[in-house]
Amino acid sequence: EKGGYDHFMIKEIHEQPHTIQDCLRGRLDPAAGTITMAGVENHLQQLINAPRIIMVACGTSWHAGLVAEYVFEELCRIPVEVEYASEFRYRNPIIHKGDVIIAISQSGETADTLVAIDRAKEQGATIFGIVNAVGSSIARLSHAGAYTHAGPEIGVASTKAFTAQLAVLTMMALKVAAAKGTIDVKRYQHLCAELAAIPEKVALVLQKAADVKKIAARYKDARDFLYLGRGYNFPVALEGALKLKEISYIHAEGYPAAEMKHGPIALVDDQLPVVFVATKDSYHEKIVSNIQEIKARKGIVLAITSESDEVIPAMADDVFAVPEADEIVAPMLSVIPLQLLSYYVGVAKGFDVDKPRNLAKSVTVE
Ligand code: F6R
Repeated sequence: EKGGYDHFMIKEIHEQPHTIQDCLRGRLDPAAGTITMAGVENHLQQLINAPRIIMVACGTSWHAGLVAEYVFEELCRIPVEVEYASEFRYRNPIIHKGDVIIAISQSGETADTLVAIDRAKEQGATIFGIVNAVGSSIARLSHAGAYTHAGPEIGVASTKAFTAQLAVLTMMALKVAAAKGTIDVKRYQHLCAELAAIPEKVALVLQKAADVKKIAARYKDARDFLYLGRGYNFPVALEGALKLKEISYIHAEGYPAAEMKHGPIALVDDQLPVVFVATKDSYHEKIVSNIQEIKARKGIVLAITSESDEVIPAMADDVFAVPEADEIVAPMLSVIPLQLLSYYVGVAKGFDVDKPRNLAKSVTVE
């Protein structure tokens, strides 16, 4: 059942070229420039006219919501808020008529997310569910939705569900932006093609999994890790840190790279690995100076870069390069080496990576 792999987690990481393809199939047609999503089409006016979109989720799904915040604001020019379901539900949130709630959940059974959308529904919000488990409670409670089609995720750490969530959210944003007229035809077509190319590029990243294994062997005894990114890669840094914490039991923190100077930089010394998620994008120059700040304090830098990058490899202690991609779709590539890193560190330390201590696959308690 593990298909020849040692663990479900690594099997599911390697499934991603197919699961992302399954998610795009029948929806995205880059040649025709069409995106077919019945749930979006049926609620297109609500989405176009939404004064605000609120993403509600927990854990890894919340990180997908953070990436989507940047994507929706950029492409659709709709203000987006991203809420931890547990915080949103308990604080009597303000929901205006017309607000659209996008609930993101792999299991579709997360208690905090479920109750949060139930409350929002009572207050008149439209609930759009992005769910992996077909027929689950969150799917049933939503007014409309789109399944991620990643197949059952058995490993407790969410991997293939995350990239499928990003694929669905990106298609959704593109569709809304096209209907709303907030994206020009050229950029729309370019992004459709970039999205369609992701499964192939993920396969190329996975071909180099052995390189991450070697890196993991060098870093596995670190006591703490920092993960830094900017823009679309900031949530990827948070996700990398979460993966390492839950699978390897190493303390890790994710931060927007520019926040370093407001406190966390005090932690940096020659024992601290700092993972930079630094693929080529509009933030590149800025993140290069953030890397300089860390190197000046003798931090150990592991950088996830784009293949054509010649600047960062000259500064970093270790580098893992991923294929070039538009910054909007880049998180689906840059997260892969971070999933692999947490897996290989966890295995090297002898932990049960499929069933980390204290964790359950679906959190049905509040
Ligand atoms: C992290 C992880 C959790 C879940 C969170 C939400 O690897 O698995 O953080 O992402 O419990 O679960 P879902 O997406 O099922 O609502």
